Amino acid sequence: MTERIIPIVDQRDPLPLPAGGAFTPGAHIADTRGRALRDLRVSVTDRCNFRCTYCMPREVFGPDYAFLQRDQLLNFEEITRVVRLFKALGVEKVRLTGGEPLLRRNLEGLIGMLAPLGLDLTLTTNGSLLTKKARALKAAGLKRITVSLDSPDERVFQAMNDAEFPVSRVLEGIDAAAAAGLAPIKINMVVKRGVNDTSILPMARHFRGSGHIVRFIEFMDVGATNGWRMDEVIPSSEIVRMISAEMPLEPAAAHYTGEVAARWRYADGAGEIGVISSVTQAFCRDCTRLRLSTEGMLYTCLFASKGNDLRALLRSGASDADLQAGIARLWQARSDRYSEIRTEATAREPRIEMSYIGG
Ligand code: GTP
Ligand code: 5AD
Ligand code: SF4
Ligand code: SF4
Repeated sequence: MTERIIPIVDQRDPLPLPAGGAFTPGAHIADTRGRALRDLRVSVTDRCNFRCTYCMPREVFGPDYAFLQRDQLLNFEEITRVVRLFKALGVEKVRLTGGEPLLRRNLEGLIGMLAPLGLDLTLTTNGSLLTKKARALKAAGLKRITVSLDSPDERVFQAMNDAEFPVSRVLEGIDAAAAAGLAPIKINMVVKRGVNDTSILPMARHFRGSGHIVRFIEFMDVGATNGWRMDEVIPSSEIVRMISAEMPLEPAAAHYTGEVAARWRYADGAGEIGVISSVTQAFCRDCTRLRLSTEGMLYTCLFASKGNDLRALLRSGASDADLQAGIARLWQARSDRYSEIRTEATAREPRIEMSYIGG
């Protein structure tokens, strides 16, 4: 029998309870760089039906890869409890991620439990199951959605997803989401030089005037398995120049401080695009995001090599006040700014995988 492959990085520390001085509800919490805690990204499964080469390369995430088992996952009650506590700590936006979140059984049930909390609740999906699920997601209380799509061209799209998944099904899914009223729809395209850069203009043309917002993302060195190289990154400035030469763009103001995507609008009023420049123009200075993994580990940075075990505390019978105090303490000690200090050498350090932490 072949040896089972286990997740690349699986290091964790306990989430310590502060000795005395519990967190005061309503208090503002900031990290060591003065950044508030505003966004929580919750991964609900580490599985995916795609094998995007930049995220879950098939050689690593093959039949022997040990995905998490059911009892390791936070259940819906645990997730809802935690999200409620985060709201009291200042979180305003919650994004459900994966892997592919729509693979989690009865995800609409979770959405129905989270919606009454009144947060900006959204989801990032590869779109493969949207045609089937869009209406149920909307009915459960989901407001908007982000769909990953790396090319409108069949050959290029399949080269990126490595799962022979037809692009027409994702495009249908996007239409179903729009018909269900999940707006605004954002479309994420990860750009890799020499792989899908020929799709930049076709993507812009395809969605121009549709009301959907395409965001071009610089290929990042997340995880330790995607063979990232700097020369495969196309700087966002190049993308903006390329699109603007055919369809003139002008800069648009950010909706809020710390918005990940820089906005550009078509000068003729046909809508807007965004660019996400984690590599060439790091946005750590305003990073207000905390990530909760499928099995309840907290990560203070997308590029972290270690998480803090919230699940152990949850399952040990800790009170709400204890959990909040532990989370507040973790955030207050945070100093992450990986994208500001990235080099070819740091890109080779071990760290958590994108499919485990949800992007
Ligand atoms: P909205 O603007 O509210 O729709 O959310 P968002 O821009 O955070 O959207 P989304 O989650 O789709 O983020 C887009 C992509 O940006 C992610 O999939 C990541 O690839 C990248 N990204 C998001 N947050 C971070 C971050 O904290 N650090 C880095 N380096 N990249 C990030
Ligand atoms: N670089 C940039 N973006 C990535 N994503 C996944 N892996 C990478 C990477 N290496 C994006 C996906 C999806 C979101 C969850 O993160 O395309 O839109
Ligand atoms: Fe799946 Fe999204 Fe990763 Fe692609 S990027 S393998 S769709 S989780
Ligand atoms: Fe935030 Fe880390 Fe991304 Fe910087 S690299 S923006 S600190 S998640």
